Amino acid sequence: MKRVLIVFGTRPEAIKMCPVIKELKTRRNLDVKIVVTGQHRSMLDDVLRENGIIPDYDLSIMKVGQTLTYITYEVLLKVESVIRELLPDAVLVHGDTSSAFSAALVAFYNHIPIFHIEAGLRTYDMMNPYPEEFNRRAISLVASYHFAPTETARDNLIKEGIKSEKIFVTGNTVIDALIENLRDDFEHPLLPRGNDKLIILTVHRRENLNGNLERIFSAVKKIAEQFPFVKIIYPIHKNERIRAAAKKVFSGVENIEITEPMCASVFHNLLRKCCFVITDSGGIQEEASFLGKPIILVRKCTERKELLTFIGLKVLSDNEFEIFREAEKLLIDREFYQKRATASEIFGDGHASKKIADIIEFALDIKN
Ligand code: UD1
Ligand code: UDP
Repeated sequence: MKRVLIVFGTRPEAIKMCPVIKELKTRRNLDVKIVVTGQHRSMLDDVLRENGIIPDYDLSIMKVGQTLTYITYEVLLKVESVIRELLPDAVLVHGDTSSAFSAALVAFYNHIPIFHIEAGLRTYDMMNPYPEEFNRRAISLVASYHFAPTETARDNLIKEGIKSEKIFVTGNTVIDALIENLRDDFEHPLLPRGNDKLIILTVHRRENLNGNLERIFSAVKKIAEQFPFVKIIYPIHKNERIRAAAKKVFSGVENIEITEPMCASVFHNLLRKCCFVITDSGGIQEEASFLGKPIILVRKCTERKELLTFIGLKVLSDNEFEIFREAEKLLIDREFYQKRATASEIFGDGHASKKIADIIEFALDIKN
């Protein structure tokens, strides 16, 4: 029996880890232990509840306005004590959050092999996304096995000197989760009636919390005002800074509805029904691409570079005029819309978790 410790702490990691956890738990020679750092609280708990997953350890670190140093320090100390107690054969982390980086560092300090899911995403701009570009590069330095979602991610790792036999292209597990959640008979009170068009908005990145946020919001407000037939839904992040900014710009705009964060199963189905999405999210780029939903990307750059060539995705940062223009084109130019609305499996086909579980068993030399 080999023991695998899975550590994560935020909503997107949880959404992407849950399919892997479910798959690993079916393997009879693996003892799977789940540690949540609690970097997020309600946003994490919603995903765990939805997936029926009860962590073995909950480090409950979240506090309002937490700094990167605080998260890193807390996770380092608390994960280390769990590692010393459980003595795992491997530690599994996902992506680029501070929880993932700190857990990987602890595993490295304790000579425990690290398996890194969603490895190899890069912008090569250390400040965008911040601090995620640092986190994921640092994890790659200490990981033993790298699960790259795409060939592009694999190529990045090879260029950085990682041996090809340690890299496995698996697809992204977010597509596994998405497929599991989609329902043909989905109905929801937020769905617009008649011919109205649904636009979904999500903005949360740290590097957008410095004035960019207000410019993005002001472009969104203009879209809502100029096109009364759109309904914009904004399931807002729990961060109070974002909430205050949104309230200031959007109050009184009738066709913008701010909601609490949604369960992934609701969000995924609304995404499927929308006209397009305005976002700075990483995972939503992958989901929208699978569903063939155009993306207005309000970031300086993307690590999902496949989208730049595949659908001609433009990176619009916080340019108010360009965000509005792009939305206008999507709403009135059918041909332009169709080009941006090409569905694809570039980020996965729904079988990533199984591939990852097979490789973990193989790497740990488990014979079934
Ligand atoms: C984190 C990740 C980011 C990921 C994002 C997903 C890092 C450095 N950043 O950023 O990569 O894209 O999660 O959403 O790891 N809060 C709550 N309740 C919650 C969650 C957050 O109140 O359930 C509030 C707290 O005040 C917290 C703040 O949001 O201090 C920011 O959360 P934090 O995890 O520090 O940063 P994110 O921007 O969420
Ligand atoms: N998501 C969700 N509920 C919401 C908004 C988003 O479940 O109200 C999901 C979304 O489907 C995606 C993930 O959260 O899988 C993206 O998380 P986020 O944008 O916070 O982080 P990122 O992907 O940018 O790291």
